[in-house]
Amino acid sequence: MSDRPETDLIECRNGRDLSVLDLTSIAPLHNDDITLIMDLARAFRAHKTYKFDLNKGCSVVNAFFESSTRTLSSFDLSAKNLSMDTNNVSSGGSVSKGESYLDTIQTLDAYNLKCIIIRCAESGVPEVMARHTRAAIINAGDGWHEHPTQALLDGLTILDHYDGDVTGKTMTVIGDIMHSRVFGSLVRLAPKLGIQMRVAAPKTFLPAHIEKFGVDVFHDVEAALDGVDIVYALRVQEERGAKGFIPSLREYSKQYGVSKKRLDLANDNAILMHPGPVRRDIDVHSALVALDERSQINRQVENGMAVRKALLWMLSNRLDGQEKKASWR
Ligand code: CP
Repeated sequence: MSDRPETDLIECRNGRDLSVLDLTSIAPLHNDDITLIMDLARAFRAHKTYKFDLNKGCSVVNAFFESSTRTLSSFDLSAKNLSMDTNNVSSGGSVSKGESYLDTIQTLDAYNLKCIIIRCAESGVPEVMARHTRAAIINAGDGWHEHPTQALLDGLTILDHYDGDVTGKTMTVIGDIMHSRVFGSLVRLAPKLGIQMRVAAPKTFLPAHIEKFGVDVFHDVEAALDGVDIVYALRVQEERGAKGFIPSLREYSKQYGVSKKRLDLANDNAILMHPGPVRRDIDVHSALVALDERSQINRQVENGMAVRKALLWMLSNRLDGQEKKASWR
């Protein structure tokens, strides 16, 4: 390590850029992109208490049209940690007054921003906005579609637990798959990492044709957990009407909630993950959340800052000078 952490980061980046100018989905990322994000995230994590000047003079707006605790605070603190100027736009803004997403986002883009982080209830909005802004768009969760930075921080957590070698590992994702944008990104990332995915859920929580993603489908959670390396529980998303798809939360928890007995069916070195917010004693039994040594839930949050710093730095400062050719107004 050098005296100046910026030097470590520049050396770690080693002239590399992402192949994408926005991050709206995991799908277009190449393996080199994923390696680059992970390398830089680890380097940022090694200096987690240091304030970098890498993005000084760059501005970012967090446009969160849906509520968030960890993603919003993580992006905002990460940007500040890179010395960016930040501003937050919330669900009470112009969209709720009838302005279109396009007009709202182009208004923000007029501030000469480097990045706009978007969370919204509608699938596909970040991808459309990316075509019409000069700022890089980062998808912080769109409807039931994707939440790419969540999958990347999960990927870092899994890779680090298994010392970078996850080819052939198995992961079981349990719960409200249909409404989950976290699943939408994870299922696109898993094959890139060589992880085989299983899903365990009531039939009513599974989207049609899910097998086309190459996942193994289970309705018996014990069978789905047998001998797996990663156990990933999802939240029942009541705000998206999920309660209408199950008899009751109590019944769901009895059949699919992750208990110690169920977690013990996984491999000895297996880990427990959850994107948060956790609904204790529904998705995961309370005692497992923070106290069980297999739980990675707080580590996932810590890794979120590292991954987001890596993305904000690269998307705000391209070394190859490429600029977005977006149609504007
Ligand atoms: N995991 C996640 O997106 O959490 P928030 O809704 O708190 O941002």
